Amino acid sequence: MLRVRHLGWGKGPGGGFLPFSGLFCRLSGVVHSPEGQGRIAMTKLAVVGATGAVGREVLNLLTIRNFPLTELRVFASSRSAGSNVHFRGNDLIVEDLAGADFSTVEIAIFDTPDDVAAKYAPIARDAGCIVIDNSAAFRMDDDVPLVIPEINGRLLEKRSGIIANPNCTTAIGLMGLWPLHKEFGLERVFGSSYQAVSGAGESGIAQLNRETREYVTGVAEEIGVPAFPHPILRNVIPHIGRFDANGNTSEEMKFEREGRKIMNLPHFSSSLTCVRVPVMRSHSVDMIAFFEKRVSVRRAHDALREASGVTLKDDTAKGLYPMPLTATESFDCEVGRVRMVPGFQKALHLFVSGDQLWKGAALNAVQIAERLVSG
Ligand SMILES: NC(=O)c1ccc[n+]([C@@H]2O[C@H](COP(=O)([O-])OP(=O)(O)OC[C@H]3O[C@@H](n4cnc5c(N)ncnc54)[C@H](OP(=O)(O)O)[C@@H]3O)[C@@H](O)[C@H]2O)c1
Repeated sequence: MLRVRHLGWGKGPGGGFLPFSGLFCRLSGVVHSPEGQGRIAMTKLAVVGATGAVGREVLNLLTIRNFPLTELRVFASSRSAGSNVHFRGNDLIVEDLAGADFSTVEIAIFDTPDDVAAKYAPIARDAGCIVIDNSAAFRMDDDVPLVIPEINGRLLEKRSGIIANPNCTTAIGLMGLWPLHKEFGLERVFGSSYQAVSGAGESGIAQLNRETREYVTGVAEEIGVPAFPHPILRNVIPHIGRFDANGNTSEEMKFEREGRKIMNLPHFSSSLTCVRVPVMRSHSVDMIAFFEKRVSVRRAHDALREASGVTLKDDTAKGLYPMPLTATESFDCEVGRVRMVPGFQKALHLFVSGDQLWKGAALNAVQIAERLVSG
């Protein structure tokens, strides 16, 4: 498992040097990097929605993973245009997305609401840029690959146009299911998610923080539009997305639809209840998975231990199991509580926790960008 909590900076913000090995170049709103990074090509990159919960983590991960940049531009709405975001020890000025010129950008990572991506991602694509989109706007389009690199990264060979990132709960759940699918042949999943407030972006984080302050101080605060339909502190809310005529939410249906596309399993089916919980960061998914073949916990453990992007955390005697607190800021998703389902020889019960701001969004996007620039 690779975990990053403390960054080693080459020099403080005033000095403006890039962190980590080999990159010691002064920044001035644009990032200049030295030539040559092995097989990695230097890239002109844009982060769109750079002031949001996901966009900030994209910037963080570009630093942590030493992404090779020659130029970085950051965009958001007119509300934040002109403000600064911090990157590799320097402040970058946020540009207004309206009227943005993408002609000099090679890769744009979009971290905006669906409607904003729907409008501007095609503009970026038509300017010759490869777009990696974190919104739901293009995920189910036939000509748009929906990619988790560990599962269907082969789709990234010779890509252009728009590449979609999956829904956060889908990504985290599939990270646990995919190694088991390869071993036993996945058919269907029943389960529940436990989704952090930051899954709703900055407004979700703000609501839990505000309700916590109000609870501690007893003083009510002014609020704008709440992120959730009910209070989230000391509560769980079984409602994420819009309800359909069958009583499922849009979030719940994404797991099945996106799961089918990513795993190339047209008959995969799922029934989830997606639940918002008062956790700041990292989603968890409890799943009962049904397979074509007979299963065993030992073989499931072996498959999960060998899987890329997964940490097996399954030693109940030692109190070891996946949790949001330990999954936060980890590149890997944690999988544990793997056990047989009484009465079924072809089913496993498992619990997965993963940082939805990382593997459910920003990390997956940066991994895609890394694949695109590696020769
Ligand atoms: N949060 C998660 O865990 C997660 C996981 C997977 C996917 N996603 C998806 O990722 C996207 C971003 O989510 P988030 O959680 O980061 O949301 P967020 O915290 O609300 O941030 C939204 C970002 O989009 C920008 N934006 C909003 N309206 C805009 C406009 N009209 N023009 C230009 N920029 C605009 C905002 O800029 P301002 O600061 O100017 O408002 C901000 O930078 C969404 O599609 C979301 O569904 C989120």
